[in-house]
Amino acid sequence: MFFVLFLGTVILGQVVPQNFEVMEGLLTEINQCKQIREKFSELKTEFSDIEIRGIHKDMRLKILTSVNSRLRAELRRVIQTNDLLKDKLREMSLKLGETRQPTSEIRVQNTTGEVGEGGKEISCTVTNHNNWTYFNIERNGQTVVHVAPDGRAQTRFNPKYLTITPTIRENLAEIAISFASLRCTDEGLYSCVIEGNVQSQSIAVVIKTPSTGKPSMSKIGDVIGYKPTDFKCEGQPSYPDGKLVFQVKLQNETVFRNFEFPDPTVVDKDRNCVRKQTISVTYVFTEVWDEAKIRCKYKHSEDYDETDLFVLSPTLCGQNTVDNRGIRHPQKSTHYVTCNEATPTVHQCPDNTCFDEIFQTCADICLV
Ligand SMILES: *[C@@H]1O[C@H](CO)[C@@H](O)[C@H](O)[C@H]1NC(C)=O
Ligand SMILES: *[C@@H]1O[C@H](CO)[C@@H](O)[C@H](O)[C@H]1NC(C)=O
Ligand SMILES: *[C@@H]1O[C@H](CO)[C@@H](O)[C@H](O)[C@H]1NC(C)=O
Repeated sequence: MFFVLFLGTVILGQVVPQNFEVMEGLLTEINQCKQIREKFSELKTEFSDIEIRGIHKDMRLKILTSVNSRLRAELRRVIQTNDLLKDKLREMSLKLGETRQPTSEIRVQNTTGEVGEGGKEISCTVTNHNNWTYFNIERNGQTVVHVAPDGRAQTRFNPKYLTITPTIRENLAEIAISFASLRCTDEGLYSCVIEGNVQSQSIAVVIKTPSTGKPSMSKIGDVIGYKPTDFKCEGQPSYPDGKLVFQVKLQNETVFRNFEFPDPTVVDKDRNCVRKQTISVTYVFTEVWDEAKIRCKYKHSEDYDETDLFVLSPTLCGQNTVDNRGIRHPQKSTHYVTCNEATPTVHQCPDNTCFDEIFQTCADICLV
């Protein structure tokens, strides 16, 4: 008991440091504090809690709250005036058991760029891990960069295309790879692997390629209403996540709007960091689609292809039509329709002439 009281007094009496020259003193005090706490634990096993509370209530409060908080406040003040003390304090608090040992951690940095772009970098950084004998970067399970604790790096890469910079400091190890000029073959998932109980992390190198050319879309033209119509669009949208989208403008509308046809079949062929996409659709057009326009465009570009759409009534070839006799196309005077039983076929008059239903001929005079 006496021992405890004595130490307590020492501590209370000394906590007035003016500058960090007394840091060592503080450290000692904190260690003493720790000892006091340990002593308390011992006491606790020897005496009942009630006895301890009764005898030492006051002291306990002083040591565990007043002293510690004053020390902490003082340390906080000192730490603000000197960055170099940070490490020492961390060490100290570790000794005190106030904070847990910081856990080792790997941080990665991904990169994205176009083929030929220079100065792109990926990196693996591990902190709070000083006991390792290797720190590697793997690609598809194969080690491509190996760094030893002395900072020496070995690599499978051709140094012509990239620079490897290992940095080894206390509590920090980093491998940075800087690509002189990105190539499609640099793309992939790399991983940082360090010896010990640290989760490996993946680094993505993503090559981006803008869209090329214009999409190319089936010319739909005449369709028979309420019958499924197939059409498709092809193009080279941007890589790796570009896509083709449709826009439509109905007869009564003035602007195109995005439109998703249900259940499209999308096929991507990604090769050499270029995407070829084909989107195929089967859709049943109804009368509202008559004289509509459908566009197929790259999502992130204004390049598009377009088709007109004319929806023929499914009853156009009805009971009153005569097989192989031409009927004027309902929307286009330059076109006519012949029926074979209920199936219409659309024909176009030559040289922009117009169909004359009475004379069953294509004539120069176009009646509106
Ligand atoms: C350092 O690593 C070696 C080998 O993995 C291990 O045997 C040793 O206990 C480690 N030391 C510390 C202080 O963690
Ligand atoms: C890096 O890319 C990988 C794979 O795409 C991803 O899981 C990870 O979250 C990315 N990391 C960062 C820091 O962006
Ligand atoms: C165009 O016509 C369709 C069908 O008749 C209708 O649903 C739509 O609201 C119309 N749009 C405009 C802009 O008038």
